[in-house]
Amino acid sequence: MSSRGFEQGGRSARPSAVVRPRRFRRTAALRDWVAETDLESHRMVLPLFVRPGDGGPTPVPSCPGVARYPLGRLRALGRSLASEGVRSVLLFGVARTKDAEGSDAWSDTGLVPEAVRALKKGAPELVVATDVCLCAYTTHGHCGVVKDGDVENDASVERLQRVALAHARAGADVVAPSAMMDGQVGAIRHALDDAGFEGTGVLAYSTKHASAFYGPFREIEGSSPEFGDRAGYQMDPRNAREALREMALDAAEGADILMVKPALTSLDLLARARERFDLPLAAYQVSGEYATIHAAAARGIVDLERAARETLVAIRRAGADLIVTYFARDAVRWLREDR
Ligand code: PBG
Repeated sequence: MSSRGFEQGGRSARPSAVVRPRRFRRTAALRDWVAETDLESHRMVLPLFVRPGDGGPTPVPSCPGVARYPLGRLRALGRSLASEGVRSVLLFGVARTKDAEGSDAWSDTGLVPEAVRALKKGAPELVVATDVCLCAYTTHGHCGVVKDGDVENDASVERLQRVALAHARAGADVVAPSAMMDGQVGAIRHALDDAGFEGTGVLAYSTKHASAFYGPFREIEGSSPEFGDRAGYQMDPRNAREALREMALDAAEGADILMVKPALTSLDLLARARERFDLPLAAYQVSGEYATIHAAAARGIVDLERAARETLVAIRRAGADLIVTYFARDAVRWLREDR
């Protein structure tokens, strides 16, 4: 053989390559030695849906393993999650009552505040973040206050401040505004500080696309918009520079953590954000991403654990410090079984 890269040596032709990446692919231990990305339990955030009442969890057909948990079970659930090694959750309430303003969202005795208190009783160490939005609480299903068919930005921000305060008063460690209203992060930061909650963190859904992958979530929450869509406030998936601008705004407004969402459709944004910002980054692997992997696995197209882990690794490799994922509970178990 005399093609370029090979030379004659001794009696047999041999490749002259001295750089051989395959050397460290020979065994699992060698691969681990040079692995650049690790999955760790403490990186996983489990989304949790709480509904009123008692009884058993209500399963969600499109999302195996996901359920709406009755408030009465939250304390025990917190205890189980902590004992399994789940370190953090992101809480969503399935509204008790809906009105045009979404006022149940800022009730101090609402589902999310009650759930925060119950979880903290069951598992004081569990990091509890709460989603701050109105869509599950408004009759029209939009993320803010509607006037003349339009979602009013500043009036909505004022409502979101109330929601964040109710969650902080209940003891949430972190509030996560997801309504995509302009100025929501700064307004919430100020409201928290004015009320003495300087220690409550803000996880900003900075780059939340108007995505086709939120379908199962809206079914769980009953939060589909009654008219129109969310394209007037959520981001256009075509825009990356605008996504970075949204992140810069949230950083300037005092966000502690910046999040992109969905995850797999935003890996480029994560990678670019990792270079541009010093803040911790999070990615939300949303309901439709989870349901899609499950559906493919159920049809034998992919192996569930391998496919899920590959996506989680990719999200970490792209630059996420934290991953909000419905696989969190499974992932924590898989990681434990690795050892
Ligand atoms: C609320 C909110 C949504 C999600 C998180 N917070 C839905 C939406 O914007 O319609 C989606 C999460 C998921 O699909 O898992 N605004």
